[in-house]
Amino acid sequence: MEQQLAMDMARVTEAAAIASARLMGRGERDEADHAAVEAMRAAMDDLDIRGRIVIGEGERDEAPMLYIGETVGRASEDDRRQATEIDIAVDPLEGTNLVATGQGDAITVLAASEKGGLVHAPDTYLDKLCVGPVAAGAVDITRSPSENVNRIAEALRRRVNDIAVIVLDRPRHEALIRELRTTGARIKLISDGDLSAAISVAVSGTGVHAVMGIGGAPEGVITAAALRCLGGEIQARFRYRNDEERERGAQMGHGDETRVYRTEDLCSGESVVFAATGVTDGELLQGVRFFGGGARTHSLVMAYQTKQVRFIDTVHMFDRDRPPAVRL
Ligand code: FBP
Repeated sequence: MEQQLAMDMARVTEAAAIASARLMGRGERDEADHAAVEAMRAAMDDLDIRGRIVIGEGERDEAPMLYIGETVGRASEDDRRQATEIDIAVDPLEGTNLVATGQGDAITVLAASEKGGLVHAPDTYLDKLCVGPVAAGAVDITRSPSENVNRIAEALRRRVNDIAVIVLDRPRHEALIRELRTTGARIKLISDGDLSAAISVAVSGTGVHAVMGIGGAPEGVITAAALRCLGGEIQARFRYRNDEERERGAQMGHGDETRVYRTEDLCSGESVVFAATGVTDGELLQGVRFFGGGARTHSLVMAYQTKQVRFIDTVHMFDRDRPPAVRL
């Protein structure tokens, strides 16, 4: 069941990646996002699932498609009674600016779990600390960034200046960056995309070891799903931008801004599936490559229970009558 769902979800992120990649570099971030949303929505409705969006494009009155609470999937009324209910968290295009400007590391991404397996989070911020499997259990977000960098270095048996930390390049991170610089750790400032950055720190060979700082809460929940599959860890605290968000967060049970949410708090499901497809070339995934009559996509697909991590290279033929020659 989990394996089938994982492969089905890869089709969904692939469709969204192809649609949004066509708009690369056009300076139209909303259009690129919209293309991903439409393609993701259509692909989901082609699946025999009974899904409910728990993290999506916003509240019902804000988003025409993939809004929080929307049901997706084509299980018919009869099937619906039998089909297992799943909760789905989507980020149809993670890195809208990256696509608009033709920069790397944009992905289409989602996570799914049994009903109740993903936390319902408002569209606000989380303060995050993400590490890979070796440093999991060694860090504590309530401690200073310097102490955590030292703990990560110790866990990885490296010198502190052999650790690389990814931070979103934002004015709100000035103090964090200043402190990290005093430790001697290497820092990679990114313009966008802390979700794919967090996956990278849990994959050996990427040369990055932690993500620190404040980024999107929806991205944080999907990060938790990915890190559960990879054995990494996220610790996070809600950071509201205003009273309206604070009130909305409190209504959803997240009123305590000092509470530390761990990986299993954000993604508690027994069955978890994660799928991401590269839109533009990145550290982890290649972007969509178009050729006459088709396109090629590169995806990361994971299933928690079945303990499988797949990198999938797919050729999509647009024209069955005149199929392109498939290349190695
Ligand atoms: P979008 O692609 O949805 O715009 O998000 C990109 C992103 O950089 C996320 O990776 C990150 O969590 C969030 O935006 C940070 O938000 P902000 O740009 O407001 O600092």
